[in-house]
Amino acid sequence: MGHYRGRVTEIRFDLNRHLEALIACPSRAVPHAGQYLLASDPDDPSASLGSSLFLAGQTVQGFWAVPSMPVAWKPGTTLNLLGPLGHGFNLPANVQRLGLVGLGYTLARLMPVIQHFTATQGSMTLFSDLPLPEAPAALEAYPLASLVDALDWPDFMAFDLPLERLSELRDILKLAGTRGLPCPAQALVTSPMPCAGMAQCGACALPARRGWKLVCEDGPVFDLQSLKW
Ligand code: FES
Repeated sequence: MGHYRGRVTEIRFDLNRHLEALIACPSRAVPHAGQYLLASDPDDPSASLGSSLFLAGQTVQGFWAVPSMPVAWKPGTTLNLLGPLGHGFNLPANVQRLGLVGLGYTLARLMPVIQHFTATQGSMTLFSDLPLPEAPAALEAYPLASLVDALDWPDFMAFDLPLERLSELRDILKLAGTRGLPCPAQALVTSPMPCAGMAQCGACALPARRGWKLVCEDGPVFDLQSLKW
């Protein structure tokens, strides 16, 4: 983790009209898939502690950042950056059939995982009802409802999971009782992180098998089996 200076160089809308920003910054500042950066505009005294920026794609000068950022940010806006923060995705090297599940409002945070896995000889399938951004040809995509019948296919799963949907997950997967997934899984849990762990505000707390965890510090990527759902 370190303090860095960055600069917004481009702003674009995704397929659902959410803002994404291209941030120029030192390569050491670029978060891994699932990690985040705390970014703030030093010239905006009304800004809160900062915005949590996730990696959507790496570029030679920095990275494409999601989710929606302050509308005041424009190309040329300079940013104070703190990070990378939190734990990102860490796929085992022997994964051959990767299942991806997008339950949030964007697939952008899963794209770095998809790009990384494309370099392997494995197969990957995405289950989501969101429109698919430009993706490698090797990626197959199906509606979320198809996942229930395909649960035995992946040997590893990666979720983008808003915190408020954690309690629905068992219904979405149609898993009865305490039955778990047939394979290991990691979930990028998204939640408001107003203090990013700086003030222990507790706003991002989520239930775990043992007590509670904080999305900002213990995640945002969790072993799904370690959570209570
Ligand atoms: S955002 Fe404050 S403790 Fe996580």
